Amino acid sequence: MSFSIHEFTTRREKLLASMGEGIAIVPTAAEALRNRDSHYPYRFDSYFYYLTGFKEPEALVVLIAGSAPKCILFCREKDMEREIWDGFRYGPAAAQEIFGFDEAYPFSQLDQMMPQLISNKAQLFHSLGANAHWDIKVTHWLNQVKDLARTGISAPEVIRDVRQLVDKQRLLKTPFEIDLMRCSANIAAHAHNRAMQKTKVGKSENEIEAEFLHEFYRKGAQAPAYTSIVAGGSNACTLHYNANNALLNAGDLLLIDAGCELDGYASDITRTFPVNGKFSAVQKDLYELVLAAQLAAIDVAKPQQHWNKAHEAALEILAQGFIDFGLCQGSRDEVLESGSYRQFYMHRTGHWLGLDVHDVGDYKDPQGSWTILEAGHVLTVEPGCYVRPAENVPEHFWHIGIRIEDDVLITSSGNEVLSHEAIKTVADIEAQMASGK
Ligand code: GLY
Ligand code: MN
Ligand code: MN
Repeated sequence: MSFSIHEFTTRREKLLASMGEGIAIVPTAAEALRNRDSHYPYRFDSYFYYLTGFKEPEALVVLIAGSAPKCILFCREKDMEREIWDGFRYGPAAAQEIFGFDEAYPFSQLDQMMPQLISNKAQLFHSLGANAHWDIKVTHWLNQVKDLARTGISAPEVIRDVRQLVDKQRLLKTPFEIDLMRCSANIAAHAHNRAMQKTKVGKSENEIEAEFLHEFYRKGAQAPAYTSIVAGGSNACTLHYNANNALLNAGDLLLIDAGCELDGYASDITRTFPVNGKFSAVQKDLYELVLAAQLAAIDVAKPQQHWNKAHEAALEILAQGFIDFGLCQGSRDEVLESGSYRQFYMHRTGHWLGLDVHDVGDYKDPQGSWTILEAGHVLTVEPGCYVRPAENVPEHFWHIGIRIEDDVLITSSGNEVLSHEAIKTVADIEAQMASGK
């Protein structure tokens, strides 16, 4: 996917228009040490990247709203010595040109320039509380300006959270973002299909995790979007399992929750399939229940429906199934009312998806009503069923953990399942697994 300067300048223009007056400060993430002098792979801050498209660490964007709006980038200077060791850096002059800024300066000049930039501005937009380092810096700059009161210079009196404005923008994906998210989902979907072919009794969860990394990097994704969950047998009943180091046993299911990140955009897909390639009767019963719940939830994920409708649709199907299988007692309404279904389904049915896997955006409005879905929203639909050993549960259900998760774009006429290429019917899964033999 090629870089689109227009995409990023438009995002900044929108933010400037929504600010009214004032100055916004958005820093990127710091590099993080993993141990001694080894770093974690660098990942930019999602807000900063959303507004700039700039991936280097040690950078900050300033947006000045008002009659003469201006966007300023602070970034690392060119440095031949550091570039020999660490790689290319744009430097302010090239970054200004390529990323479409009005001005760009060395990051090292921040402390010198920021007090002047925030002077006499009505409002300061900053993510107060998000990062202690930047809170201290911003407080310091504000205090420097306040010290100039006697000279007639004023500091911003109103401090607002810039994230509230950007979140509204990020929630509605543009065509550029949708293309990227479709590609991200497609790469992850094919990785899941490949994993089905590669899974064999006696392999380890790590070996299957490696198949995902292979497919992600080979297809151009830069990283997994989150730590993959590769959970055989009872491990699937641990919702955030990520040890991924057990052997795969015949007769067990394998639950894999894995997605990739493509130019910042996450996919988030879960598939569950039998290690030996063939669902047992009880596995098939529960799998088809979860699949029916997922399809019902996807069906109501469309414009004008509220956010929680998909969760409600999934719950109705799951509750009835739990009753039919003798896992829950009472009528469907009683099971829903009492919450007894939570013994087997204890999470919600989805979340917003975008630059962050659990993406930003409100689920309710200020009055407490669920957000109404509209074209451009992207969310996951991920019902599941997790049966731990318990006295009230017949033993043949024990240790079965199932989740089926897809990425869904709301369109003007309904929805598009971005991850539709990931195989999910019982017949298709068994055929796919047989093709890998
Ligand atoms: N993979 C994280 C989630 O499904 O929410
Ligand atoms: Mn998810
Ligand atoms: Mn997931």
